[in-house]
Amino acid sequence: MTKKVIIIGASSGIGKSLAQLYAAQGGRVVITGRRQELLQELQEQFPKQMLVSAFDVNLLQNDRELDLLVRQLGGLDVLIYSSGVGEFNKYLDFSIEKKMIDTNVSAFTQIADWSFNYFQQQGNGSFACITSMAGMMGSRHAPAYNASKSYQINYLKGLRQKAKRLKLKASFTDLRTGFVDTPMAKAAGKFWVASPEKAARQMAYAIGRQQSVAYITKRWRLIGFFLKIFA
Ligand SMILES: NC(=O)c1ccc[n+]([C@@H]2O[C@H](COP(=O)([O-])OP(=O)(O)OC[C@H]3O[C@@H](n4cnc5c(N)ncnc54)[C@H](OP(=O)(O)O)[C@@H]3O)[C@@H](O)[C@H]2O)c1
Repeated sequence: MTKKVIIIGASSGIGKSLAQLYAAQGGRVVITGRRQELLQELQEQFPKQMLVSAFDVNLLQNDRELDLLVRQLGGLDVLIYSSGVGEFNKYLDFSIEKKMIDTNVSAFTQIADWSFNYFQQQGNGSFACITSMAGMMGSRHAPAYNASKSYQINYLKGLRQKAKRLKLKASFTDLRTGFVDTPMAKAAGKFWVASPEKAARQMAYAIGRQQSVAYITKRWRLIGFFLKIFA
């Protein structure tokens, strides 16, 4: 059966690689983001399988816009939230913090809640969010980024508890990611940097298995173990 996938934030980086991967496997994929020209270039690689919907996640008015995407796709099996903002903020300029809170917290919550309700009605489905190892610790350089990723990690836990209580056969996967070679990875002293293609392969595998938490790449589980004890 053709897999129907929506990727929120597919114009570049990991989201783009995920879109290419699902399309190469024969899936139908809605690709979103603000940069329409990049989305159109990507769509030209898989014209029969990809649909473009350019929008800013912070300007979603209501659920109807997501409902429309699903109608265009003809159903929904997987929704991946890849949109994210990550910036250093040495002087605690609130306008910078707010961009991260808007995209990584508020818009994430709106789309996660919509997904939960959709999959509850359908009886199954997979929602996944690219969180971060950064969510397991604080950062003096980027306090809002790390805090926003902690929020996503904890919110997903809540959705999994809720799904369990409702006996809902839907998954809410925390893709807890280390460094990936995209414009987002700005930290000095990066290590174990994965290509977006490798990260996407491991993410798609974890989503397919409906895992609760997946360390991306897998070796980051070791760092996760120490962070749980010491951070
Ligand atoms: N790269 C890493 O090392 C790393 C590590 C851990 C976690 N992550 C997480 O991975 C996710 C993807 O990041 P990436 O590394 O692939 O970086 P990226 O290439 O910068 O991708 C970010 C994506 O988010 C979209 N986006 C940002 N703001 C948006 C908005 N307001 N509305 C709609 N889309 C928006 C961008 O699209 P437009 O600009 O076209 O809107 C783009 O497609 C992020 O959540 C990030 O926190 C990355």
